[in-house]
Amino acid sequence: MGITLKLNGVKNFVREDELAKIEPAVKMASDLLYSGKGAGNDFIGWVDLPFNYDKEEFERIKAAAKKIQANSEVLVVIGIGGSYLGGRAALDFINGNNYNNKKHPGLPDIYFVGNSISSDYLNDIVEMIGDRDFSINVISKSGTTTEPAIAFRIFKKMIEDKYGKEGAKDRIFATTDKARGALKSLCDKEGYETFVITDDIGGRFSVLTPVGLVLMAAAGIDIDAVMKGAQDAANKYKNDDLMNNDCLKYAALRNILLKKGKCIEILANYEPSLTMFGEWYKQLFAESEGKDQKGIFPVSANFSTDLHSIGQFIQDGSRNLFETVLWVEKAKKDLIIQEDPENVDGLNFVAGKSIQYVNSKAYGGTFLAHVDGGVPTMVIEIEKTDAYHFGQIVYFFEKALAISGYILGVNPFDQPGVEAYKKNMFALLGKPGYEEQKAELEARLN
Ligand code: PA5
Repeated sequence: MGITLKLNGVKNFVREDELAKIEPAVKMASDLLYSGKGAGNDFIGWVDLPFNYDKEEFERIKAAAKKIQANSEVLVVIGIGGSYLGGRAALDFINGNNYNNKKHPGLPDIYFVGNSISSDYLNDIVEMIGDRDFSINVISKSGTTTEPAIAFRIFKKMIEDKYGKEGAKDRIFATTDKARGALKSLCDKEGYETFVITDDIGGRFSVLTPVGLVLMAAAGIDIDAVMKGAQDAANKYKNDDLMNNDCLKYAALRNILLKKGKCIEILANYEPSLTMFGEWYKQLFAESEGKDQKGIFPVSANFSTDLHSIGQFIQDGSRNLFETVLWVEKAKKDLIIQEDPENVDGLNFVAGKSIQYVNSKAYGGTFLAHVDGGVPTMVIEIEKTDAYHFGQIVYFFEKALAISGYILGVNPFDQPGVEAYKKNMFALLGKPGYEEQKAELEARLN
């Protein structure tokens, strides 16, 4: 059981001695991380999280999930960025991206809001809930982020109108800072059940905290298996021996490829249920490495869908990219292609074969074509998309990113760049204290 890194697709691009040369930098990065002496060392709580998570809170999460399952047909999950992407990636990865459309007796539909500022989107969700029973899981570490705060206003009113203030209290679950922030104050005042995002874990590293676990448990996901997967990955990748550690190799090769001008990484998958995992990866890597005018620009691609669009560019466009493929070895349930007596589409040569088999040949063919086209390609094989493997792959990427960031020479745990647009938006919206900037920005926009 597990995940495996395959490096045949980088052999033509990276020499053995280049990997050997980067070994000291990898060791240094590993030392920085485990000694807690590296930049951003206030935010490395995720390193040991798979072992030292709050066990009492973990049981409360399971109890809350049971309560939600018993009294709600819908769970509205409110959050953005690190308070959204990981949980949604988990739901899709493990339960499939059609979870809400499939039968799941005894489990609520899960709707995500507060991850954009679209009134059409919010109205659709209100309409989809209709008169069904629902609960809310509002997630915000700071408790002050605009998008989820606005969405919470709307759904708090809706739930209070439906169940009264007392009834709503039983249906609102908040995940936030243990002591600070507007959301925490509100929870204390209203008596909502709260779960904690600890100070030493940044948003994009928080999927294995209550941020992701509450909704996973509500959707029937085995959160013990998720944590077991993360534990096994933490143990497996703890050593600092580059030649015997896939996680370190991946981190090192990214940096070697960057030095060769490969400044774009495409995380490609062959499963629609991994689309949101690609979105989670983009935040994790972009916010962590894209700073000080450095970094690899992370993008994601969903194959074979995107082979019919950006596939042309990957094969034949600017040669400044490399690819990391997530390949899932076993389908949850396979399907056999039937023989067609008329064979109008000429596809009888795949009759009797499974869809997974055809997908594997699409993957093999694409891999070779992209390598031949000058795209260094690493492959991460995942045995299957269950809770255990989700925990493993999350930890693999979190650790690889931290090591990669330290090799690159950045603080992988801050995100100073995300403040710039927020300041402008607040000024343009007329937030008190931003009066001067408002006039100046409006003049520039006209
Ligand atoms: O990684 C981050 O820090 C951000 O993406 C945050 O998670 C995001 O802005 C949401 O913040 P908060 O949880 O404070 O509402």
